[in-house]
Amino acid sequence: MTAQNAIDDGSGYFLYHSIGLFPDKARLIAEALNRFAAIWGTANDSQWPQSLGLRAQFIDRWQAKINAPAGSVTTAENVTTALYSFIGSLPDRYLKGKRLLIAADCFPSLHFLLSGMAVHRGFVLDTVRARPGESWVRDEDFLARWDAGVGVALLTFVTSTTSHRCDLEGLVRHARQTGSVVGVDITQGVGILPFDAQAPEVDFTVSTTLKWLCGTAGAGILHVRPELLVECRPELRGWFSQENILAWNIDAFQYAGDARRFDHGTPSVIACAASLPALDWHASQDPGKLLAHNRELTSAILRDAPRLGLELVSPRAESERGGSLMLKIPAHANPAELVDRLRSEQLYTDCRGTTLRLSPGCLTTSGGVERLLAALGRIL
Ligand SMILES: Cc1ncc(COP(=O)(O)O)c(C=O)c1O
Repeated sequence: MTAQNAIDDGSGYFLYHSIGLFPDKARLIAEALNRFAAIWGTANDSQWPQSLGLRAQFIDRWQAKINAPAGSVTTAENVTTALYSFIGSLPDRYLKGKRLLIAADCFPSLHFLLSGMAVHRGFVLDTVRARPGESWVRDEDFLARWDAGVGVALLTFVTSTTSHRCDLEGLVRHARQTGSVVGVDITQGVGILPFDAQAPEVDFTVSTTLKWLCGTAGAGILHVRPELLVECRPELRGWFSQENILAWNIDAFQYAGDARRFDHGTPSVIACAASLPALDWHASQDPGKLLAHNRELTSAILRDAPRLGLELVSPRAESERGGSLMLKIPAHANPAELVDRLRSEQLYTDCRGTTLRLSPGCLTTSGGVERLLAALGRIL
């Protein structure tokens, strides 16, 4: 192995908050897509049964990963469309004249969606901000605004801006007291932190597969608690929303009894096929070991951050943090140049404004962290 190969092996890869990697990812995705191409390109009549079978496997893997009841999960193109399907399905009594509570450090795309939907669904989007000088929204401030006027609360399990992990137990307990529907965006948590859709039991979950779970884009999911699901009437609906997709009497549309009611037109199957190897790989791993590895590497970075003039933007306590570390770079450093210089040393990071985001995962090594810290020392 040449020196160049030795450092192109993922050891210096810190982008699991963006695209996750697992061993042999390229080869395994290529094989999965080749199998899909063989199914799709064969001149027989089994293309759809086999392709929908791959999608069903994808849904099964997700159900197992988040311990969701059978029939409570379906696919979506991304997190935003998953949330649109769900909010667009809720009866008026949860939305009209009510508040939808959200924190300002949610993923902005979801806020964009909801501020638009508020107008025609007749709810107020109530956004809890971070305190002046603080970088994440405190759970206690979120709770303080959460009363019986909140029809729906959307939680972010782990934020993409500071990796703040919310106290799901406490927040969901509060939802049960106020009678609000409570859902959670687990995109930045699933695949690195444990999440169980039934403990504490949430009403809905949205996510996608490409980050810590290491799948591909286009592989989003929506989970809805079965007792709530039967009340939902998705406005985005179509032939695949029915129990029998071939029931084509235009005067007799009927929703399926399970999460298939959130489907609409012909589902996308390629992203499911391409993401299956990642989900299979995760299913074969010890989640505790993946997290312990991440914690070891983030601790090493944290120890050196003050020496490098990097100020911590994420919570210091591990129990309040996801897998990423966000660090404010010194005023004299240029974020784009910093990322470029690191890239030239096969160290892959990104910056949001002046915040450096570092997310070490299963392929990142302590050697990679040492190289990163040495490079940051030289550059800064
Ligand atoms: C917390 C969180 N939610 C959602 C998303 C992605 O949303 P979408 O799939 O709609 O692009 C991201 C992407 O970075 C994220 O960090």
